[in-house]
Amino acid sequence: MTTINHKDFAKEADNKDLLRKFRDEFFISTDQTIYLDGNSLGRLPKHSKELISDVTIKQWGTELIESWNKQWYNKPVKIGDKIANIVGALPGEVIVSDSTSLNLYKLAHAALKFQKGKTTVVSDELNFPTDLYILQGLIKEFGPDYKLELAHSADGISITTDEIKSKIDENTALVVLSLVAFKSAFMYNIAEITAYARKMGALVLWDLSHAAGAVKINLTENEVDLAVGCTYKYLNGGPGSPAFLYIKKELQDKLSTPIQGWFGDASPFEFDLKYRPARGIRKFLTGTPPVLNLMAIEPGVEMINAAGINNIHAKSIQLSDFFISMLNTELLQLGFILGSPADSSKRGSHISLKHVEAYRICQALIHPKKSQTKIIPDFREPDNIRFGFTPLYTTFTEVYKTVQRLKEIMISKEFEDFSNLRSEVT
Ligand SMILES: Cc1ncc(COP(=O)(O)O)c(C=O)c1O
Repeated sequence: MTTINHKDFAKEADNKDLLRKFRDEFFISTDQTIYLDGNSLGRLPKHSKELISDVTIKQWGTELIESWNKQWYNKPVKIGDKIANIVGALPGEVIVSDSTSLNLYKLAHAALKFQKGKTTVVSDELNFPTDLYILQGLIKEFGPDYKLELAHSADGISITTDEIKSKIDENTALVVLSLVAFKSAFMYNIAEITAYARKMGALVLWDLSHAAGAVKINLTENEVDLAVGCTYKYLNGGPGSPAFLYIKKELQDKLSTPIQGWFGDASPFEFDLKYRPARGIRKFLTGTPPVLNLMAIEPGVEMINAAGINNIHAKSIQLSDFFISMLNTELLQLGFILGSPADSSKRGSHISLKHVEAYRICQALIHPKKSQTKIIPDFREPDNIRFGFTPLYTTFTEVYKTVQRLKEIMISKEFEDFSNLRSEVT
């Protein structure tokens, strides 16, 4: 494809896009901003904007405490069921609760107790730091017999299935992996790894934060034991929205939460002094949820169900393949290197580009001096610019314009106007 063809291709792909109408369902303040960070914080659905106003003024402001019975109390389960549909799980297998970090702690702790006698936890060095910090803490808590084994990435981008398998043996209690790696977007083969762990007697806990709402996942079909994930990324739940956790039906009665909060009690409003766990997944709730954030999750989740995760995943692949084809013809010669798998079956919905000047290039995209177009990707140390493609609102034309802007920044050396001093949030 030549440069001119890329422009035409983008226009045609946007015209043919089955999901095109969903972009209008988001609050987009200006078309001059190309937002490619939906893998970190999803855009605001228009319906959420209205709902948040309703939740504050009507539900909180007018109906006050009655809203607990009318709306709020059962939302963690109701929204959980809608997320279950997105990740290929059954109703009653997902709830919304706490943060991803805390959910990971609760589930990993429960798994280690259940797997008494097995003392190894397996993860990998591409995992998100919070997952590894939580596991390191659990190893300390469970005692000196326990250890954490990390699978190694030879290229810093992906991990072979053989490498993961080589770490799992009869002493493995739990395997904790991110389905899609936060930096490189490398995506594991969930079926193969889950089946192998099961054969070895280990439980598997998948962190779906960078996958849920962007790629097709089938937890039931793959007999996945446990999972957690964020709702503020591709699910568009809003900043700080509570996370979700999944437990396979057969395991629910066998696992106990390490944090016995009153929301996980069978009857919190009996105020019994002795804890009696709720049946099913509900016992993994802890305390009062952040209601404003919780309520804001539903519209984004409903939109994904309406669009269909298969359609979303298909467009995600088209968008990222389009970006990679332009990388190959227009950006490699400017010093950019693909920091994600080239094979779409091994990739989530963002692409990392590596460059020695990644931080300053990212700054030039976000704070344009020589362009009308502001582009928001993000930066991950030491040299990755992450471009997140969110199929419900990212257009092919935006992807095309991003590549043109990268070329402009490199040719004009505009990035040299920026400092390399990192801001607090990158
Ligand atoms: C893969 C992954 N896991 C966990 C987290 C942390 O989630 P939380 O802040 O809700 O604990 C993130 C945050 O970006 C993430 O990307």
